[in-house]
Amino acid sequence: MGSKIERQMKPKRQLRERLRDLTDFRNHWRYRKLVEQLRNLPAQFTQVMYGLPTISLDELVDGREAPEAPILDDLCLPNHAEPPGHNDLIPLLTLLKNRQPAVVLELGTAHGNTTANICKQCPKAKVYSVNALPEQISGDIITFALTKDEIGRAFRKNGYSDRVQQIYANTLDLDLSPYLQPATVDFAIVDACHDTPFVINDFLKVAPFMKPGGLVLLHDTHPSMEEHLLGSYRACMYLKQKGYDIRHLQDTWWGVWQVPGEVT
Ligand SMILES: C[S@@+](CC[C@H](N)C(=O)[O-])C[C@H]1O[C@@H](n2cnc3c(N)ncnc32)[C@H](O)[C@@H]1O
Repeated sequence: MGSKIERQMKPKRQLRERLRDLTDFRNHWRYRKLVEQLRNLPAQFTQVMYGLPTISLDELVDGREAPEAPILDDLCLPNHAEPPGHNDLIPLLTLLKNRQPAVVLELGTAHGNTTANICKQCPKAKVYSVNALPEQISGDIITFALTKDEIGRAFRKNGYSDRVQQIYANTLDLDLSPYLQPATVDFAIVDACHDTPFVINDFLKVAPFMKPGGLVLLHDTHPSMEEHLLGSYRACMYLKQKGYDIRHLQDTWWGVWQVPGEVT
């Protein structure tokens, strides 16, 4: 009886106040973490069945010639020497230096730092690099929406324009056939929009142009699937289900597909 009276006497809070509390709660890091964990739950179940096996750099290169010093203008890839950071730049440059691909395809030029580094490590390579203009772009995890002048400025600054074919397109609409013959690309990098459907689209667009024994690297692919690392890892698990033996490159955020067949 007493508690009923107390309940009735409790002052009613304003609706506005209650909404503010709810917003504060939603901004709390614990709530955000919980939402992220729930969002990742289906992918984590899939990981039990289709998680990517790990591959080491030594399994992908015969020798281990040290790469040339990297170009650092507009660097986009992680390049940390020590944990808790990690390094995606040096493993990529080591692969390029030791494999010397003749034809390289890159989805996601951005400012052109990786393009410039490909040209520096592989002096004979021809590079095809794709990036959407701001009016063409779509997707959520796009990293940048750059103007035509901004796209590729680092490789132009470093004097590699004569070896790079720039393609301005949304990868969803991309047609590579005017530029490349099937089975002619030695090395490809998928690093445009990181939403799962885009990564699947990008990989499937690139695959028919890959030479036997070639390599496709997919950036922002890591089994933690935290934040921006979810989309590509989830795409890779889907592609693995479809029969593409994609691996996770040890200690990096790279996924790797070795094209079946001998290098020619
Ligand atoms: C992560 S950045 C690429 C970084 C670059 N590979 C490097 O290491 O210097 C992604 C780039 O892809 C472009 N991009 C995003 N979504 C795209 C799409 N759907 N089609 C084409 N380009 C896209 C963005 O404009 C951005 O410049």
